[in-house]
Amino acid sequence: MEKQAKIGNLKLKNRYFLAPMAGVNDIAFRELCRKSGAGLVYTGMINPLSKEEIHLEDRPVLQIFCSSEKGLKEFVEKYNDRVSLFDFNLGCPAKVARECGFGVFMHNKIEAVEKILKIIRENSKVPFSIKIRKSRNAMKLAKLAEKYCDAIAIHPRTGEQGYSGEADIKFAEKIKRNIKIPVIYSGDVDERNADELLKKFDFVMIGRKALGNPNIFANLTGNKTNFTFRDYIETAKKYKLKFSQIKMQAMYFTKNVYGAGEMREKLMRAKTIEEIGKIMS
Ligand SMILES: Cc1cc2nc3c(=O)[nH]c(=O)nc-3n(C[C@H](O)[C@H](O)[C@H](O)COP(=O)(O)O)c2cc1C
Repeated sequence: MEKQAKIGNLKLKNRYFLAPMAGVNDIAFRELCRKSGAGLVYTGMINPLSKEEIHLEDRPVLQIFCSSEKGLKEFVEKYNDRVSLFDFNLGCPAKVARECGFGVFMHNKIEAVEKILKIIRENSKVPFSIKIRKSRNAMKLAKLAEKYCDAIAIHPRTGEQGYSGEADIKFAEKIKRNIKIPVIYSGDVDERNADELLKKFDFVMIGRKALGNPNIFANLTGNKTNFTFRDYIETAKKYKLKFSQIKMQAMYFTKNVYGAGEMREKLMRAKTIEEIGKIMS
């Protein structure tokens, strides 16, 4: 029998996760991924000082995005009882991260990272992880993670590479060989390679291949669920998600559909959820 998958004391039903995706992983999308079979689902990155409303009814992984301790202790205390795990983002290469010195731009600020990890560790009642990219200091960060965290996720592309070019699996394997905490692999994971990667890493997370496609987790786990955009709309209504969010998800769900171009044009003009429902049916 396969060993119980765990991060810290958190028991997991399997080793396929939904990767953090800002703007994409709203609660309705997460719920479909979870019901489809995902072992763990992440929010997008969230700054502790932001005032945005966070839905946590599904106890996701809450991903923290910051570069200082300001407001961090309060943030962790506030959400401790409503999340499965805290994750700290050390991978985002976007403009907002560069401007604020967040994400991958913290890789050369090891002391500042350590201060943050300490605060999260000291105040968190749930397991805690970090998510990094490939960089010169990645191994140093992995060693810090070993000291303060229960797991580490790695997307082995550099900040400069962004989301293209080859993901350096060998680099991620080197991290795995050198630390004792579980390693979550991220980067181009799909139905074809997930199980092969799970021979090398403890967990895999799926990002872009899950866009508009929560059923990827059913395909991986053998679940019989098969969600449509109707199911997304119903779930989004339950949580009173914004119209703009529903429209954006509709765009993603057209990804592999015949006639997507025409559908997207219609979606751009849509003014009500009912209209979106009709276009997507
Ligand atoms: C639209 C989008 C939003 C993302 N947002 C985040 C984020 O908020 N936090 C994070 O750590 N990674 C973020 N990522 C990176 C993914 O979690 C993942 O590491 C990366 O896309 C590589 O995996 P993939 O090839 O499966 O997409 C984002 C990726 C995409 C495509």
